[in-house]
Amino acid sequence: MISEVEFDKNEILQFEELIDGLIQNDYGICNHFLPDNIMEGLIANMSIFEKQGKLKNAGIGTFHHFQKDKSIRRDKINWINENSQNNDEIFYLKKITRFINYLNISCFTSIKSFESHYAKYDKGDFYKRHLDQFKNENSRKYSVVLYLNKNWKMEDEGYLTLYPKKVETVNILPTYGKFVFFKSDEMEHEVKPSNTKTRKSITGWLKI
Ligand code: OGA
Ligand code: NI
Repeated sequence: MISEVEFDKNEILQFEELIDGLIQNDYGICNHFLPDNIMEGLIANMSIFEKQGKLKNAGIGTFHHFQKDKSIRRDKINWINENSQNNDEIFYLKKITRFINYLNISCFTSIKSFESHYAKYDKGDFYKRHLDQFKNENSRKYSVVLYLNKNWKMEDEGYLTLYPKKVETVNILPTYGKFVFFKSDEMEHEVKPSNTKTRKSITGWLKI
C-alpha cells in the first residue's frame, strides 16, 4: 500500500517541522498542511455527509469490546475509504502516504498502514482525556489531526489539549488547515467543547 516516494522541497520542510516538533516537544504542528482547494473539497464533503446522515456516533475500544459511551466522547464520525474515488480525499491519502514514507526513511519507523475518519463535534461535544491506543490492540503509533474550521476564533475554544510529559499542558486551537502530530500511545490528550460552533476535523492513525 505504501510505495510512492516523491517529495517536493516545500513538503520536506513541512515534514521536518512536524518531526522536529515531535522530537523537541512531543508534538508537531504544521499550519498549512494542504492547499486551499483541497481543504475546500474536504469541507464540502463534510457538509454532504451531514446532509446525508453519514456521520455516526463514535465508539471507544476495538470491535469486540466496542462501546458507545457518551460520557467519554460525543463526536460523530465517518471513515475515509482507502480506495476513495473522491479527488480531495485521494490528495489527503497520498499526502499522508508520503509523510509515512518520509518518516520511515528518516526516522526508521516501520509504519505499514493508516486509517482516518472525519469527525464532527457539535456545540458542547467533547472527548475526555485519553490515549489513542486501545488496551487490547497496539498497532496505532502516531496520531494526526487536520482541522477544517474556517474563521475559528479564540473565543470559540474547542481546544485540543495535550498533556506532554516534558512540558506544560498545551492548548491547540483547531484552526483551518492546522495539522497536529503526536504519538498515539504516549501523548494523553483531550478535546474540549466549543460553546459557539461545530468543530470539524479529519483524524488519522499511522499503524505498524
Ligand atoms: C481522537 C482525538 C483530537 C481532535 O479522535 O482520538 O483525540 O482534536 N481527536 O479532534
Ligand atoms: Ni485521540
